[in-house]
Amino acid sequence: MERLILDTDLAMGAPGSDIDDGFALALCLADPQLDLELVTTVGGNTDVDTATTLTLELLDRLGRPEVPVHRGARDPLVRPRARQGSLPAGMAPREPRPEPAATALVEAVRAHPGELTLVAIGPLTNVALAMRLDPGFAGGLKRLVIMGGVFLQHTNEAGMPGEFNIWCDPEAAHAVLTSGVRADFVGLDVTLRVRVDRAQAEAMAASDQPFTAFAGQYTQAWIDHLAERGGDEAVDSCAMHDPLAVAALSRPDLLTWRDAYVAVELGDRLRGAMLADFHPERGKHGQEMDLEVNARVAVDVDAAAFNDYFTTTMGEIR
Ligand code: BDR
Ligand code: CA
Repeated sequence: MERLILDTDLAMGAPGSDIDDGFALALCLADPQLDLELVTTVGGNTDVDTATTLTLELLDRLGRPEVPVHRGARDPLVRPRARQGSLPAGMAPREPRPEPAATALVEAVRAHPGELTLVAIGPLTNVALAMRLDPGFAGGLKRLVIMGGVFLQHTNEAGMPGEFNIWCDPEAAHAVLTSGVRADFVGLDVTLRVRVDRAQAEAMAASDQPFTAFAGQYTQAWIDHLAERGGDEAVDSCAMHDPLAVAALSRPDLLTWRDAYVAVELGDRLRGAMLADFHPERGKHGQEMDLEVNARVAVDVDAAAFNDYFTTTMGEIR
C-alpha cells in the first residue's frame, strides 16, 4: 500500500476547465494499492479558492469527505500569473482545513518521515514553500512524483515555452530541482500519449454511477473546448496528464525512466522550459561537466496498458 499526498490545481466541475486533476484524485481513491492521506490545493488551472471548493465537492461526490484538504498558494513565488476561475452557477464557496497547505505538508512529513509519497500535479509553489519552511521536508519524503516539464520535445509555443505547471511557477520548480531531492518527472513527452476520446467520454457520461457520469460530461465539454480553441473540429480526445503521474505509483511497469540532470530556464524568452541532460558527467563536446543527477525523467509509456488500468480502476468506483 502506497501512502500519498496529492497537491493539485483541480478544476473538474468548472465550465471549460481541464479535467485531468479530477481523474487523478478519483484514481487515488479507486486504486486499492493507494492510500490518499492529504490533499493540498494550488492556483494553476483555476484560482486556488475555486480549486479548493471543487476538490471538496469532488471528494463528497466520490463518497470520501473525510480526506483532509488544505488550501495552498494563490500566486506563484515571484511573478504573479494567477488564473481567475469561477464556480458553476449555484455552487457556494467552501472552506478547507485552516492550516495553509505548506504547513500541512511539513507536518504530515514530520509525523511520518520516509513514509509518504507526494504527487504534485499543479504548479510547484506549495512544494517549494514546504521546502523553504522546513529544510528537512525534501529528505523526509519517500518519493516525489511531479507531472511537469517536457524533455524530449518542446511546446513549440513562444508564449508558453515550458509545460504549463512548470511555466506557471518556474522559480518554484528551480527550488525543487535544487533541493537535493531526486524527483520523478512525468512530462508531456509521455502524458500526451495517454488519452480519453469522445467515445469513452460519452460512455462515461451515460453511466449510472454519479462520479463517472459527471466526469464524462465534463470530459466531453473539455474536448469541445480544445477543438474550439485549436480551431480544429477533428480534435476528439484529451490527455490524461495527471492520472499518469498517479499511475506511476502502483503501476511502475507503465513508464520507462532515465536518470538526468534537469534545469529550468528562469529568463524571459524561454521561461519555464526545461533541459534534461542524460549524461551529466560529460559534455558531448568533451567538456568536464560534473553535474549531479537530480531527477528521473519518464521517456516512454505503455499507453495501451495505461488505458486498460485507467478504465478498469475507474470502473471500480461505486
Ligand atoms: C498540466 O497542466 C494542467 O493543465 C493539467 O492539469 C496538467 O497538470 C499539463 O501540462
Ligand atoms: Ca493539474
